[in-house]
Amino acid sequence: MNNIWDQNRPIFILAPMEAVTDVVFRHIIKRAASPDIFFSEFTNATAWYRAGDKATGGRLIKTSDETNLIAQLWGTDAESMSHFAKHIKELGFAGIDINMGCPDKSAIKSGGGAAMIKNPLLAAKIIEAAKVTDLPVSVKTRIGYSSLDEMENWISTLLKQNLIALTVHLRTKKEMSKVPAHYELIPKIIELRDELSPSTKLIWNGDIKNYKEGISLLNKYGGDGIMIGRGVFTNPFAFEKEERIHSKKELLDLLFLQLDLYDKYQTKLNRPFDTLKRYFKIYIRDFDGASELRNELMTKAKSTDDTREIINNFLNTKIDQKT
Ligand SMILES: Cc1cc2nc3c(=O)[nH]c(=O)nc-3n(C[C@H](O)[C@H](O)[C@H](O)COP(=O)(O)O)c2cc1C
Repeated sequence: MNNIWDQNRPIFILAPMEAVTDVVFRHIIKRAASPDIFFSEFTNATAWYRAGDKATGGRLIKTSDETNLIAQLWGTDAESMSHFAKHIKELGFAGIDINMGCPDKSAIKSGGGAAMIKNPLLAAKIIEAAKVTDLPVSVKTRIGYSSLDEMENWISTLLKQNLIALTVHLRTKKEMSKVPAHYELIPKIIELRDELSPSTKLIWNGDIKNYKEGISLLNKYGGDGIMIGRGVFTNPFAFEKEERIHSKKELLDLLFLQLDLYDKYQTKLNRPFDTLKRYFKIYIRDFDGASELRNELMTKAKSTDDTREIINNFLNTKIDQKT
């Protein structure tokens, strides 16, 4: 089996984002400018083990061409994690990532996500349980729960688990996304990796907007790759290697694709139409009349057909004005 992490160049990854990086949005980013690896939204192992596929809410839907997709899992029960890992292998994912950084209250309450930082013994057990197949296992985490002083112990614990890769969101759980990412800690993390687990790839995450910024961070500090999340909300072309200006048509074509894929997967994903509205600002910006068009869509569109009609009317009016 090819190991997806085996790449001799910087690895660029689209960050897992709950209710965002589903099968629809991943295809948009792939069309715009593809990263090397995609992660699914995080999916709970225990919920799946207890209730089966209906508990995953469409999070694991993937198409057969998504050969570079890693399933992100979380959970606190080793038995469920092993069973789920086998299921993930059967579904054809390229790897398993375990979320040990999510600050969400429900994850923390059950001892998962960032709460794992306080429970290193359990963290090690869960990682071991996920290694039941030959899929590569990685972890995505933060640098501590409430204090930067926790970084060395926590990152060392993870590096002793023989992980294929470790993605570090360079903030503590307590800091949420309120302070700038602590890039200044990268050299120490690299030192720990070189000492404890030289083959583990280190991926940096937090506030990195695009490929160019990612490359400068790697050039400045070192590391093996970059994960970008919110950057795609302001620039869906965030992963393009040669930056260029994108036309209104390119942006709107991405939106039209998103509408079509939303319709295609709607029966399986069951996401209300209004969830699409958060994406409008990604595509409808930086052109003449963009804010008026956005306002009209936000107030009047109730379906994908309404959305197409409003945009087409807008485009036709612009053509009329020119003739
Ligand atoms: C809407 C949203 C949903 C997220 N869901 C997840 C998730 O399911 N799993 C995860 O590990 N991190 C999740 N995150 C955190 C991101 O993966 C990433 O670590 C964080 O946004 C910082 O990176 P950025 O500054 O590039 O956005 C989410 C973030 C956002 C904004």
